[in-house]
Amino acid sequence: MRMLDLIYKKRNGYELTKDEINFFVKGVTDDEFPDYQVSAFLMAVYFQKMNERETADLTEAMMHSGDIISLKNIDGIKVDKHSTGGVGDKTTIVLAPMVAACDVPVAKMSGRGLGHTGGTIDKLEAFKNLETEMSIEAFINRVNDIKLAVAGQTANLAPADKKLYALRDVTGTVDNISLIASSIMSKKLASGADAIVLDVKYGSGAFMKSLEEAKKLAESMVSIGKKLDRQVVALVTDMDQPLGCSVGNTLEVLEAIDVLKGNGPEDLKYLCIELGAQMLLLAEKTDSLASARELMQESISNGKALAKLKEFVQEQNGDTQIIDHPDAYDQAHFIREVTVDGEGYVVAINAENIGKAALVLGAGRTQKDSIIDLSVGVVLKKKRGDFVTRGETVAVIHANVEDAIPEAIDWIEKAYSLRENAPESIDMVQAVIK
Ligand code: URA
Repeated sequence: MRMLDLIYKKRNGYELTKDEINFFVKGVTDDEFPDYQVSAFLMAVYFQKMNERETADLTEAMMHSGDIISLKNIDGIKVDKHSTGGVGDKTTIVLAPMVAACDVPVAKMSGRGLGHTGGTIDKLEAFKNLETEMSIEAFINRVNDIKLAVAGQTANLAPADKKLYALRDVTGTVDNISLIASSIMSKKLASGADAIVLDVKYGSGAFMKSLEEAKKLAESMVSIGKKLDRQVVALVTDMDQPLGCSVGNTLEVLEAIDVLKGNGPEDLKYLCIELGAQMLLLAEKTDSLASARELMQESISNGKALAKLKEFVQEQNGDTQIIDHPDAYDQAHFIREVTVDGEGYVVAINAENIGKAALVLGAGRTQKDSIIDLSVGVVLKKKRGDFVTRGETVAVIHANVEDAIPEAIDWIEKAYSLRENAPESIDMVQAVIK
């Protein structure tokens, strides 16, 4: 078999066999093919697409390209949750303690952020000294002890995906459904969960800009799960405005803590309850969605989820001070209120633009090894459906570098759209695919 033949075959629109896909992934993993051939192949897939069977075979091959983590030494059904990424998405920090407080084990491997979207591992650094690098044994022991651990991904999880993703990023081949679905699912399946709840986002802050595209991506990932004997449920959710009000690492963690204290933005709380309820169903904690939602709600009202967050931070050697004393965190030096021209109802807040405002303030990475500033970001005071009077503050900037503030203001002004009439309310969960 030769790489060139596979490029021709896909370029001409033919279906690849399992052996051909395995040959491709093995060659990529072992660095046997030059980047130009792999890139040409990716472009052929981009235009000619892959069918469900090819996508599942690609996922399986990438999943087996590195370590497969076994979580069999953890009692119970292990359910993972994955979000396709967005702006202000701090759901893991709220949801994981809620689910663990219901006695369902949560063994979560998370990533760091790149570009305008954030990553859970960065956000967790708001708890000073919290360790996210640990051996698999320590990870498993922690889940057995307190039902919850969050770790950074090990270097050798789906290495073929790492190589392919780096090439896709620079060859215009990221936004293909088969390539995204296999990339995400290969890592999730290699990290050993029995079942997975996916939060597939669409809108201005997401990879998939339209609901229809997001549904197709969700269907593809659920179908991969079925073919590889893993239960997968996908919620297709709105990311046409940031989730919650805070964007930026420590600011997001403070908001997550607030939700666990029974306060916080309704959209964030609602999404966490919906995702968590699906996790409880997959873990067979209960058999109805209504009672799963109640359990999630109760974990907040009885204080157990907040206590679980504290236990988790202590277990991973982090400082819990900001849980009890949210005002005691290292605030940014400059706090600037932002207004927009005119008045009216907020009909949209372009989430990508808010993400870019946070990025220029230093909350995110422009390169893989950029150092992020945990305390900076943007707090929205007005969300979709709110009325803004002339001169009223719509958002507050938290900055440490004064020179970055004008560009951040520009992005925030561009993000807000005001109209005379109130927008129709949109259900955050647009579809559940299983
Ligand atoms: N996240 C991934 O891990 N892979 C993709 O292709 C897109 C988002």
